[in-house]
Amino acid sequence: MGSHRGVESADQVPGKGAHQPQSGSDCGGERDWQVLSAQDFYTGVADYMRRVDPSWDEENWRAQVADELRGLRAVMGEANGRSVLDCSCGSGGQAIPLAKLGWQVKAADIIAAYLDIARRRAKQEDVSIVFRRCDMRHLDRYFQASFDWVVSCMALDNITADEQIQQAVKGMFGALRPGGRCYIRLRDFDHIMDVKPRYDFKEERAVPQGRVIRLEDWAYESDTHVLNIYVFLREDERKTDWPWVTDVFSYRRRALRKAELEQFLRGAGFQEVEFLPQPSPWHPHEVVASKAT
Ligand SMILES: C[S@@+](CC[C@H](N)C(=O)[O-])C[C@H]1O[C@@H](n2cnc3c(N)ncnc32)[C@H](O)[C@@H]1O
Repeated sequence: MGSHRGVESADQVPGKGAHQPQSGSDCGGERDWQVLSAQDFYTGVADYMRRVDPSWDEENWRAQVADELRGLRAVMGEANGRSVLDCSCGSGGQAIPLAKLGWQVKAADIIAAYLDIARRRAKQEDVSIVFRRCDMRHLDRYFQASFDWVVSCMALDNITADEQIQQAVKGMFGALRPGGRCYIRLRDFDHIMDVKPRYDFKEERAVPQGRVIRLEDWAYESDTHVLNIYVFLREDERKTDWPWVTDVFSYRRRALRKAELEQFLRGAGFQEVEFLPQPSPWHPHEVVASKAT
């Protein structure tokens, strides 16, 4: 990654106080890093991982495919040639496993670079998917009532204005044929807003010339909006002193509770809304909403 927009990068030892994202992340206090757009956040994190360790993203991808094959089949059943629109496909996390399971897949995302990665991966996996760059707030412009399922994972809370969330959910409803179903997966903000976690340890990874410790932090702006902050602490063995480099990426999310999501779904016209059993509140929650026949 040549440059990473809006990202602080500083040489320091964690805990020695040269750069402390946590102190900066308190709402109302001084912040020494920038809140990125969701688009710049995803691009920045992906670029960082690719720069620090090219195999990192690929390993995550392999693990995700294995999980999704199991999980999506459990929720959506056998494909039997049915059609699905993934309206926030990213680099293909659900779209490609669905195609491998035999679904007729169309996949959309707002970020062109993600669609390029998804196209490359689909080719590698030898599956056929129709990709389209599209903002899920404007699905009605591209997709009419024809799909058996619409899927959106880990994305709806990237839309921070309620009327736009409602617009996106209406677009999902509109893309479904009568009797079609919508599957949405999101972080559990009922739990997050209840517990208000700070500095969750996510992973420690050996990378070329050192290691990276990845933390996730949250800053609570209001009852409805939070900043999600990824902190990467990298130890670079090539450096003799102050071998630590901190990179911070942050973006704003709508702290969308389940009851609010249900309201948006019913407001769009969905007749039945079912929240699936969750293994733990730290896991994303899943909801299936059905359009009347
Ligand atoms: C956390 S990623 C999830 C990607 C994929 N669904 C997965 O779980 O692997 C969120 C995705 O939502 C996309 N996204 C955010 N806002 C969007 C919008 N308004 N329209 C379409 N895609 C959007 C982002 O570009 C990103 O690819």
